[in-house]
Amino acid sequence: MQKVVFVCLGNICRSPLAEALFKHFIEEKGLQNQFYLDSCGTNGLHDGESADLRTRRNAEKHGIQVPSISRRIKLEDLDFFDIVFTMDQSVHQQVLSMCKSEEQKSKIRLFREFDHNNPGAEVPDPWYGGEEGFEEVFHIIKENTEIWINRLC
Ligand code: 4NP
Repeated sequence: MQKVVFVCLGNICRSPLAEALFKHFIEEKGLQNQFYLDSCGTNGLHDGESADLRTRRNAEKHGIQVPSISRRIKLEDLDFFDIVFTMDQSVHQQVLSMCKSEEQKSKIRLFREFDHNNPGAEVPDPWYGGEEGFEEVFHIIKENTEIWINRLC
């Protein structure tokens, strides 16, 4: 069982979608028993809230439900999870700065590390923009979810 957590800033747009898409694709492959999935955010501003309505609506258009409830990352996450995916550089640096050991640091991976078009790029934050930003982020996250599932399975 691999324990995987996706981390963004608010845990209402990018990381809940990454969690939902990862779940969708591992279920499609019948591999759901091999993973424990979660997501969280670094800022805690939306603690207890559902994912952003625009994220949920856009994902539903593609047949994906995004049921997660926002929570802030906690120190114990860095011990509990095996892989900690970060959605952008700012989140990446923030999570790295929480680490107390090299072992914890080694778990933290930029989600677009192996992106086919733009390796190492950030997943852009769609929160301040329009609907097209949510659609773009959906495709970025979908592609990279499939890349990681192929690497991890
Ligand atoms: P997310 O998007 O990090 O992808 O969940 C954001 C949502 C809310 C805020 C920032 C980013 N916010 O500042 O409230």
